[in-house]
Amino acid sequence: MSDVAQKTMIPSYDIDRIRADFPILSREVHGKPMAFLDSAASAQKPRQVIDAVSAVYETEYANVHRGAYQLSERATNAYEGARDKVQAFINAQSRGEIIFTRNATEAINLVAATYGRRELKAGDEIIITEMEHHSNIVPWQMLRDEKDLVLSIAPITDDGELRIDVFEDLLTPRTKLVAIPHISNVLGTIVPVKKIVGLAHAVGAKVLIDGCQAVMHEKVDMQELDCDFYAFSGHKLYGPSGIGVLYGKEALLDAMPPYMGGGDMINTVTFEKSEWADLPAKFEAGTPAIGEAIGLGVAIDYISSIGLDAIADHERDLLNYATQELASIDGLKIIGTAPNKASVISMTLDCAHPHDMATILDHSGVAIRAGHHCAQPLMDRLGLAATARASFGLYNKREDADQLVEALSAVREIFG
Ligand code: ALA
Repeated sequence: MSDVAQKTMIPSYDIDRIRADFPILSREVHGKPMAFLDSAASAQKPRQVIDAVSAVYETEYANVHRGAYQLSERATNAYEGARDKVQAFINAQSRGEIIFTRNATEAINLVAATYGRRELKAGDEIIITEMEHHSNIVPWQMLRDEKDLVLSIAPITDDGELRIDVFEDLLTPRTKLVAIPHISNVLGTIVPVKKIVGLAHAVGAKVLIDGCQAVMHEKVDMQELDCDFYAFSGHKLYGPSGIGVLYGKEALLDAMPPYMGGGDMINTVTFEKSEWADLPAKFEAGTPAIGEAIGLGVAIDYISSIGLDAIADHERDLLNYATQELASIDGLKIIGTAPNKASVISMTLDCAHPHDMATILDHSGVAIRAGHHCAQPLMDRLGLAATARASFGLYNKREDADQLVEALSAVREIFG
């Protein structure tokens, strides 16, 4: 650890206490202490979330919105209480604007299949970016092919920043939707989403933001951001998998047709016709992920108890420290060097394939992701087949970065 780096440590952040909340972090991998550096793929869960989910099934479980008995009422209150927590967490104007989905992918598909199908006509344009995850590409390609739309791609710089100048040129009166990431899962770039919302709204386009990599790193505020849709998943937010969120402005959600038909999303059904329930139920057909939603609410409580500003400062310190220490490894290149980036570090090494890097790192107890990260068009743009990606969460410490650097030095030695 260098002196310069030591000075940037955040003394008030009680990393030992936080780590103690995550039982899995104390396990070993291949006989080595585990440095878990894959939170961008899925974050580990604190004891508070694990206990809350198991308490649901041990003492509080029943179906929601249906039972006239006490247990069902309690489960309903807990499930709907989780929605209130999400609403407060992202400062949505009303609880009806919070739709529980399986994940962010389902949230984006919901918008494409309902808003997109209803509102977009042949010749209309959708803009996405070169740094998109597949989940913010494929649903729009499917819609483009179905409706004869134009899908335009806003380019990035070699550092991984969005070319705002070109983005502005792509905006036309035919642009009906802009779908962008808040933070790139590969490059870590923090996209200036508020600015983009303003530019898009000026030509009458709606904006959907894929916030999967952002909600755990910084405070997001729907009313301040003024975006039309915002999607994120629970499992990257230290909550359970199988639960995600679609935020949508109430007027838009109200006007959209349902995504799936079934129980809970109707007011009345006859064999002739059905009438839809009000928001948010209209978009939540069938028995929802009850325990998972409640677990997500507890994850939000947990993050809020630490504070997103404190988490952001801690992660910035980790990013700066790791970036600096990685510079000592010959032939290592960091992919994604935007000045404003989150704690995600994609790398290549001149002597080893990213998959070999990940395998060797695993044997040193370091968990990273290698591959195209569900962003194949971005890899093409960068001229790469894959990267090795280390991502830092609220529970990582500088020693994890040290372990990463040491293991990468071993890769260097093995491959020469
Ligand atoms: N989207 C997740 C990632 O970037 C799975 O790894």
